[in-house]
Amino acid sequence: MQEIIKPITFFGLDDVNYPKYKTELIDLYTLSFTEGKHAQYIAPETIEASLDDIMRIGFGFIAFYKDKLIGAILCLSLKNDPDFPFDNHKDIDPEKTLYIADLMVDQDFRGRGVAQSLIEHLFKQSQPKPYTDAVIRVWDQNIPAVSLYKKLGFEEITAIFQTKLDKESKEPFEMKKNYMYKKL
Ligand SMILES: CC(C)(COP(=O)(O)OP(=O)(O)OC[C@H]1O[C@@H](n2cnc3c(N)ncnc32)[C@H](O)[C@@H]1OP(=O)(O)O)[C@@H](O)C(=O)NCCC(=O)NCCS
Repeated sequence: MQEIIKPITFFGLDDVNYPKYKTELIDLYTLSFTEGKHAQYIAPETIEASLDDIMRIGFGFIAFYKDKLIGAILCLSLKNDPDFPFDNHKDIDPEKTLYIADLMVDQDFRGRGVAQSLIEHLFKQSQPKPYTDAVIRVWDQNIPAVSLYKKLGFEEITAIFQTKLDKESKEPFEMKKNYMYKKL
């Protein structure tokens, strides 16, 4: 890791202050998921609708370096994830499981502990615990993200396949997504 970036300031994100940061979050999301090695095609209106949906019922934290928004983590209760194979995991209580729906860090600030701090901040803020468990879904080829979650104690518990569109050709391709789980 390069030098840990400091000071990072965290702010809670909810449906009240989300409109203020929405444009920056859409930009961050677009650069995080439609550029570089993990590029896929996502229509801009789909990004906005997805963020709106999460923030209508979920919450999150945003990280700032000086006055620049450099990272975000967005969460829901797992009961709101329609893709999780609940029938195969009766031991997981969807109401008490935190589902990390999105995690993204500005490319210029990666490898400096921002994502790790965001997750640690999230878990610290969830005390006393309304949630007992946490789950995240990640593309199995996303080495930075998989490594991060393993480092923080997440373990793979199940997988699903999703059809995505290649950014250049717009051709569909299959993405294996692993659900990773951690007891809080
Ligand atoms: C995944 C992502 C959020 C990581 O953010 P980050 O701030 O760079 O991560 P951190 O600096 O906090 O890294 C913490 C740990 O994660 C792992 N990690 C992070 N980047 C890595 C990389 N490029 N290669 C391997 N491991 C990596 C390491 O274990 C690292 O700990 P270490 O530095 O002690 O080795 C960032 O790369 C990103 O925004 N990617 C695009 C969006 C995305 O894929 N989000 C996740 C979707 S599930």
